[in-house]
Amino acid sequence: MKRNVIVGQSGGPTSAINSSLAGVYTTAKERGAKKVYGMRHGIQGLLNGDYIDLGEQIKNDLDVELLRRTPAAFLGSCRFKLPEIHEDREVYDKIFEILNELDIEAFIYIGGNDSMDTIKKLSDYGLLTGSDIKFVGCPKTIDNDLALTDHTPGYGSAAKYIGTSIKEVIRDAASQEYPRGIATVVEVMGRDAGWLTGAGVLAEGEDCDGPDALYLPEVPFDIDAFLKKVKKELDKKGYTVVAVSEGIRTKDGQYVCEMGSEHAFVDAFGHKQLTGTANYLCAYLAEKIGCKTRSIELSTLQRAASHLASRIDILEAARIGGASIKAADEGSTGVMVVFERESDDPYQCHTAVKDVHKIANEERLVPRKWINKEGTYVTDEFKTYVKPLIQGDVWPVMVGGIPRHLYMK
Ligand code: F6P
Repeated sequence: MKRNVIVGQSGGPTSAINSSLAGVYTTAKERGAKKVYGMRHGIQGLLNGDYIDLGEQIKNDLDVELLRRTPAAFLGSCRFKLPEIHEDREVYDKIFEILNELDIEAFIYIGGNDSMDTIKKLSDYGLLTGSDIKFVGCPKTIDNDLALTDHTPGYGSAAKYIGTSIKEVIRDAASQEYPRGIATVVEVMGRDAGWLTGAGVLAEGEDCDGPDALYLPEVPFDIDAFLKKVKKELDKKGYTVVAVSEGIRTKDGQYVCEMGSEHAFVDAFGHKQLTGTANYLCAYLAEKIGCKTRSIELSTLQRAASHLASRIDILEAARIGGASIKAADEGSTGVMVVFERESDDPYQCHTAVKDVHKIANEERLVPRKWINKEGTYVTDEFKTYVKPLIQGDVWPVMVGGIPRHLYMK
């Protein structure tokens, strides 16, 4: 590399997204980039001229290590949708003017399907105007729903947290005694894809039977069957723990979280904020059965729990960040770097480069055959798929008993 690099983070943060940022930074430097700039709050910040010289924030190897172990988006994230090129060329002219002023050679965007829309549009505009800047997407999302990749960085750590938390919740529930039993409903993120909710299966082991049911958004939710299942488990053992995706819908397409109340917040990509599914279901169970209930919304804990990160995930996130720089340096543009799995056991994956036009705005759902016939649990194939992604531990740098993070100075 002979010129400069700029990198941004976009969409929902994860425990591993900063490890990708560290991978981008160190690989760009190793390959000779003069400066590595960071967009503050992604493309939205860049449009306002808000960027930093990352070299002023990452001063030594300890900073790189801290960055890799710090959850959330170090640079700040955004959910900003670029207009179609024919709708507003001025926005693109402005972005390219800034990139040219900074003498940018590679533009790396770490994000999910919506963020890949940004890479797609910028690379299209670059080709249209004869720019030689390379635009490369670096995948990230706890949702694990990006097309053409085996999995996405961030997912493994979130899956590990979800499996662990559900196991701990089961242990707590099983030790209690209530007159009509206790029903616990754990709400997991993932919008349209059930990869995260399916990870509840990881609670299973020789010391734990796992949750009683997992309700993924890929299958329409049947509230009567749910009630029956909860009653059966309460009669049998006095407690039940189930996990539900925030995005479960009835067969008419109504979000369960909206059965209780209407939500007004919708982001720039038209995604509704989905929250309250577990709350609604617990109120429903309390009314129908009169049992004690607990509604647990894992919320941002599941994507920020770097104290329980998967080592594989953190290492792979750094690796794919580096691979994004390599792809740009070797001349690719309008692409995203992906993982291709070679084997489950021993687990092996390599990186490859795919056309971002086939990835942007697409969603990769859990295959129906990886969910049981009743739509209430995942199969062994799912378990075989997810297990390697949660292996190994990576400890935060603990100071005074609490994790130390790298933060923007
Ligand atoms: O895209 C990741 C994700 O965590 C989704 O699973 C979830 O629906 C959404 O982000 C929540 O976004 P926000 O943090 O903006 O509410």
